[in-house]
Amino acid sequence: SKKAVLGPLVGAVDQGTSSTRFLVFNSKTAELLSHHQVEIKQEFPREGWVEQDPKEILHSVYECIEKTCEKLGQLNIDISNIKAIGVSNQRETTVVWDKLTGEPLYNAVVWLDLRTQSTVENLSKRIPGNNNFVKSKTGLPLSTYFSAVKLRWLLDNVRKVQKAVEEKRALFGTIDSWLIWSLTGGANGGVHCTDVTNASRTMLFNIHSLEWDKELCEFFGIPMEILPNVRSSSEIYGLMKISHSLKAGALEGVPISGCLGDQSAALVGQMCFQDGQAKNTYGTGCFLLCNTGHKCVFSDHGLLTTVAYKLGRDKPVYYALEGSVAIAGAVIRWLRDNLGIIQSSEEIEKLAKEVGTSYGCYFVPAFSGLYAPYWEPSARGIICGLTQFTNKCHIAFAALEAVCFQTREILDAMNRDCGIPLSHLQVDGGMTSNKILMQLQADILYIPVVKPSMPETTALGAAMAAGAAEGVGVWSLEPEDLSAVTMERFEPQINAEESEIRYSTWKKAVMKSMGWVT
Ligand code: G3P
Repeated sequence: SKKAVLGPLVGAVDQGTSSTRFLVFNSKTAELLSHHQVEIKQEFPREGWVEQDPKEILHSVYECIEKTCEKLGQLNIDISNIKAIGVSNQRETTVVWDKLTGEPLYNAVVWLDLRTQSTVENLSKRIPGNNNFVKSKTGLPLSTYFSAVKLRWLLDNVRKVQKAVEEKRALFGTIDSWLIWSLTGGANGGVHCTDVTNASRTMLFNIHSLEWDKELCEFFGIPMEILPNVRSSSEIYGLMKISHSLKAGALEGVPISGCLGDQSAALVGQMCFQDGQAKNTYGTGCFLLCNTGHKCVFSDHGLLTTVAYKLGRDKPVYYALEGSVAIAGAVIRWLRDNLGIIQSSEEIEKLAKEVGTSYGCYFVPAFSGLYAPYWEPSARGIICGLTQFTNKCHIAFAALEAVCFQTREILDAMNRDCGIPLSHLQVDGGMTSNKILMQLQADILYIPVVKPSMPETTALGAAMAAGAAEGVGVWSLEPEDLSAVTMERFEPQINAEESEIRYSTWKKAVMKSMGWVT
């Protein structure tokens, strides 16, 4: 059996917005051997603000490593077979910490956070040259989504951050940097680095030269000495060094040799290595990335241009077009935590199945404004089309449909930018275990939806990058290395006309969600 071929093992940290996971794969077959997952708290200290505790994030990583190693032990698998560790992470979320004490100087400001809206408005009034200044260098629109403005806010508003910068004690990083620095020794020699994919989400990184951009740093007022070193997505950054009593210390000395923002990691995990190959990942948000090869393609339809990956110091860089949707899985968590109509996220499928239709109810979850293709910060969530007949099952169904409609919007934009429509959609992420969602997605896109049997593609991509790194060399990135992964296909079951009618009503609902905040 496949289990019998136990090759070298590779571990992957997948630190997402909603949860942290550690997973261990067999590098010969890509079989997932063991994993552990811990949910992460989100704080909403004010309307529009979203924060997380960087220490909680770090400890969740330790806990996941520890529990996964325990489970491997129960399977009689020796953890000394783990030859490398990859890191993938929620992107853009911004941390500043003290390099002498290892203490974060403020909570992590999460990518979804809207506190910098006025900063963005002010900055956009004084963009030098033409409006393309930021986009042409970074591939990104000037938006609250990206790290530069979050870091600007911390520098303007948090005394501890200002003082640490003055005293040359401050380090900035996205979650990958914070984790790698901490896991490689922290205040005792931790490595302060990031990879090109994460750097490309800061709005400070020039995606052509692959370096921090001096002019952008001046524009945003960011001291360059607090930025991490930018490395490729697959190389040895440092060795695991956990300086406390946790059992996670068992992985002491294992190289950390893969690092990718989670959406790039999923692209790698889905083996989308060719120009024109795309994947859509359903996590807290939902992100459709299409590999555009060595070319930076700029969108005319609200998509981002971003670094897809660079799998080795001397390997070429690949770019992607990205459609970003802020709220996907987060709408299910909202129904659970804020409305209480479900007790667990899985229950959504049962409720939706009971009715099999939204009965004319549409739910636009624009909790953080709308991202692609609209980039409309003034939008807010709405539920409309309600009657006395509407019940919680219809709302649950409408929430799932919203995820599918939002995907349709970014897929349409992608097809227009690329010129060649996608013939099917490769999907992954936690929500893809929801069969109703998958069928709805095929119906609304009117193309087949294809999902791997193992939905943890993000972690798989990080593990592949780590295992393939020079000096590790246990993963060859050839298709046969994924022999444990099989595919499931969902074909459209409604007719194209019905699909179009539903989609055009959704668009009407989107128009109503805009302009709530002025
Ligand atoms: O850009 C944000 C993205 O990386 C978050 O991913 O998986 O937490 O929805 P996820």
